[in-house]
Amino acid sequence: MVPKYTRNNITGKLIIKNPDPLDFAYVPERLRFREQQLKKIREIVLQPVRNGIFPNLVIYGASGTGKTATIKLLLREEKSPTIIYENALSFGNIRTLLSDVINKLGKVFPSRAASYNQIFGAINTIMKKRGTSLVLVIDEASNIARRDPDGFYNLFRSNEIYETGMSTILVSIDNPTIYFTERDRKSLGVFSALEFSKYTRDELYGIIDDRCKVSLEDSAYTPSILDYISEIAEHFGSARVAIELLQKASHIADYRSSDTIEGEDIRAAKSLINPYVTESKLGELEKEELVLLLTVCSCLKNATETQLDCLVENAPAFAEQYSMEGMDRKDIYRILKKLEVVGFLDSKTVSGGDKKGVRKVISISDVPVAVLSEKIELMLGQIA
Ligand SMILES: Nc1ncnc2c1ncn2[C@@H]1O[C@H](COP(=O)(O)OP(=O)(O)OP(=O)(O)O)[C@@H](O)[C@H]1O
Ligand SMILES: [Mg+2]
Repeated sequence: MVPKYTRNNITGKLIIKNPDPLDFAYVPERLRFREQQLKKIREIVLQPVRNGIFPNLVIYGASGTGKTATIKLLLREEKSPTIIYENALSFGNIRTLLSDVINKLGKVFPSRAASYNQIFGAINTIMKKRGTSLVLVIDEASNIARRDPDGFYNLFRSNEIYETGMSTILVSIDNPTIYFTERDRKSLGVFSALEFSKYTRDELYGIIDDRCKVSLEDSAYTPSILDYISEIAEHFGSARVAIELLQKASHIADYRSSDTIEGEDIRAAKSLINPYVTESKLGELEKEELVLLLTVCSCLKNATETQLDCLVENAPAFAEQYSMEGMDRKDIYRILKKLEVVGFLDSKTVSGGDKKGVRKVISISDVPVAVLSEKIELMLGQIA
């Protein structure tokens, strides 16, 4: 149904006075409700590093709980030790990631062929010259952790093995060390873990209230509007969902030349966002799951629904393209289940009519398949 809007713009002014705080990349002056986590990171990592002790830390928690924002705030505020931020989705393994760290520290370094000895040697030389130590943050780390446990061994033990004065902070949705075997875990030595819990409704209200103050005209929103947004976002405990709803609803209100955001704007915004398919969530999927999801996307290119047969027909070609062993009907069924559980797919069983039994109908409701395919192809390209 097309929403019915009333035009009630009396002033002729736009309600968005500054769009920047509505953007994802924006890191506010202060991160409310994350004071404890900031304090802990300073206590567990930064302070010891200043005293010549180099602990490692794992930060984990659901999407939109402020993990990246917390790290970005530290990057902005802390000048010593040097903190370098890397997003693991851009790298196939730890070696290439570390080469980029060296580049960021201002030295040209070949990404291939270098040994860990050379890599950590280069880091040592640079840090000695600078007279500070290094804290490396690896965001979206679970996939690379799964693929390169040997790299993590070298990273977590770099202090003992290569006498490198550096600490590592891993960030991801799941505790990435669950992907390590017991043996891996033992060999990684001692490290701390810090969980970021989902935001409560009141916290989400506080977060968007702050954003509204710096981005919208005062008269553009009411407590009941903020309450409505917090209620939707509470299901995910995610500030990302809350802020994206606010951003989209504000633009929609401006677009229809309204002086205020209405409930209908929020409902329209809700239909435009997908809280399930974030890049960090895709980053948690196994290769076979990504390949099957890509197959589903291709089957849905010109259709709203697809069926198992299309997947059985097309999955082997995609599997081959990404150098995987074949994928048969049984595999597909198993992987589909997992994709459903984690919320990437919708499926229902429908009656096939007389004597035809039932069949499974698969769809993706919230995200354009072209966008999803592009993201998956990018990720598979990095795994290959
Ligand atoms: N406590 C907070 N106060 C104000 N803004 C916040 C807070 N926590 C998160 N945000 C904002 O919410 C958005 C999402 O946060 P962030 O990107 O840090 O989440 P994340 O935990 O890294 O999620 P993902 O796992 O999906 O990467 C960002 O725009 C961030 O600035
Ligand atoms: Mg993040």
